[in-house]
Amino acid sequence: MSASAAPRLLDWDCAFFGARIASLPLETRSERDLEAALEWCRRERVDCLYALSDEHDGPKRAWLEAKGARLVDERTTLSTPLVQRRTGSALDAVRPARAEDVPLMQAVAAEAHRDSRFWNDPRFPRERCASLYATWIAGEAQGRAAAVFVVEHAGRPAGYISCHERGAAEARHGDIGLVAVAEAARGRGLGGRLVDAALSWAAARGLPRMEVVTQGRNAGALGLYASRGFQPVLRQRWQHLWFDESMPG
Ligand SMILES: CC(C)(COP(=O)(O)OP(=O)(O)OC[C@H]1O[C@@H](n2cnc3c(N)ncnc32)[C@H](O)[C@@H]1OP(=O)(O)O)[C@@H](O)C(=O)NCCC(=O)NCCS
Repeated sequence: MSASAAPRLLDWDCAFFGARIASLPLETRSERDLEAALEWCRRERVDCLYALSDEHDGPKRAWLEAKGARLVDERTTLSTPLVQRRTGSALDAVRPARAEDVPLMQAVAAEAHRDSRFWNDPRFPRERCASLYATWIAGEAQGRAAAVFVVEHAGRPAGYISCHERGAAEARHGDIGLVAVAEAARGRGLGGRLVDAALSWAAARGLPRMEVVTQGRNAGALGLYASRGFQPVLRQRWQHLWFDESMPG
C-alpha cells in the first residue's frame, strides 16, 4: 500500500471519544489498497474507520458497505460568489461574539447539530456528540475562527456563525464553519441574518467567494444557504466502519 493510501490515526478524535479512530484517505480506492488498509486497522486495533468517497466512488462505497460500513452523511459543499453587500439594518441584532457569550453558544451547539455524521452514528455516545459541538464552537470563539458573530433574540444570544479564510492566491476564499440558531428561535430570519453577516465579513476582506460544507439531508441548512444564493459544488459521502461489527477477511 502506498503511503498516500494508508489510513492514519486521528489523535484528537481518539482522545475525545476514548476509542481508536482512524481516517481513510479519499484517494484509497483500489481493492488492493482497501484490503491493505483494513489489515492495517486490524493490526493497529482501530475501533472505527472514517471513510470519505466522491460521487464516482460507488465501487469503493459498496466494498466498504459489504465489510459492514454504514453511510452516516452526504457531505455537501456549497459555494456562492461574493458581491458588494449592503450592511446596516439587515444586520441588526448581529454582533461579534464576546467571551461571555461562550456558555450560551455552547448550550445551543450541544443541541443543534443533529444532522451531523456523529449524531447519525449510534455508536457515538449522545453525550459525546453534544459535547463535540459545544467544544467546537468554544474553540472557534477562542481564536480558531477568523470571526464569530452572534444574533440576539429577546435580549440574549440565540445563534452563532463562525467564519474562516482558507486557501492561498487564486484559491483564497471564505468558509463558514459552524452555524446554528436555538430551536425555539428558528424560522424568524435569524439564521439568514447570520449568513448575511458572514457574507459581508468575507466581502469586506475582498474574498471572491464563500463556501460551506453541510449535510445533504439537512433541509434547514440547505434552505438557508439556497436563500442566500449558494449552489452545491461537490457531493461526497461519509461512511464509518466499526471493526467489532465488520465482516472478517
Ligand atoms: C439552519 C438554521 C441555522 C436556520 O436558522 P433559522 O433562523 O431557522 O433560519 P431563517 O428563519 O433565517 O431562514 C432563512 C432561510 O432558510 C430557509 N429555511 C429555514 N429552515 C428551513 C427548513 N427547515 N427547510 C427549508 N428551508 C428552511 C427559510 O425558508 C429562509 O428562506 P427565505 O429567507 O427565502 O425565507 C437552523 O435550522 C439550525 O440551527 N439548524 C441546526 C443547526 C444546523 O443544521 N446548522 C447547519 C449545519 S452546516
